[in-house]
Amino acid sequence: MSVPTHKARHVAIIMDGNGRWAKKRHLPRAMGHKKGVDAVRRLVKAAREMGLEALTLYAFSTENWSRPEDEISALMGLMKAFILADLDEFAKAGVRLKIIGDYNKFSADVVELIEGALARTAANTGTTLVVALNYGSQDEIARAATKAAAKGAITPEAIAAELDTADLPPLDLLIRTSGEVRLSNFLLWQAAYAEMYFTEVLWPDFTPAHLEEALAEFAARERRYGGR
Ligand code: IPE
Ligand code: IPE
Ligand code: MG
Repeated sequence: MSVPTHKARHVAIIMDGNGRWAKKRHLPRAMGHKKGVDAVRRLVKAAREMGLEALTLYAFSTENWSRPEDEISALMGLMKAFILADLDEFAKAGVRLKIIGDYNKFSADVVELIEGALARTAANTGTTLVVALNYGSQDEIARAATKAAAKGAITPEAIAAELDTADLPPLDLLIRTSGEVRLSNFLLWQAAYAEMYFTEVLWPDFTPAHLEEALAEFAARERRYGGR
């Protein structure tokens, strides 16, 4: 049976292409990341205005630790600045922050800021902004399976209930920017029946209009879930 879907509840984005954006302009990679944060700011606001229930953003993967130290520290600095400068506005607008991945691997000051931000927005009921930090899907599934096994039989339902995303609506649409066509260890389980959308646009250039385009294509797709 076909299941027509018109409105996405949960959209996830692999925000890729910051480095190439900077390279094209002969700028340091950190500048690409800075512009990437500007894009995050715009998109969170747009997601809220569009009434998305959840927007999940891939900000730092378990594999990104293999990048040079100066790039990692630039990313950490931007993360701190984002929480300090922008969270207030989002919190007031009803956004709830949620982190997936093991953020305890970050430095103590970052962890403290994250936990403060989580506490401040915990009671909010607007769009949930889910940030994937030190996130890897294989790590998430392994952690979930371990917890499920401790409770009883390892079934798909039991694993799903232990995933970091357990309290979120099912993933509807997964977007990747910058022309790469791979998942890079992001939401492998959750993407089982998500619609995929790949665009050449580099993340710092991604605007709410691009999100609207993706959502329009999503609305026109027929999701069949294996039925007919
Ligand atoms: C995505 O941009 C941001 C993170 C992975 C943190 P990249 O830094 O991967 O940019 P490219 O892929 O090198 O262009
Ligand atoms: C995926 O992008 C991770 C994030 C966007 C945070 P990468 O740039 O790290 O992925 P690969 O290396 O191209 O697969
Ligand atoms: Mg990349």
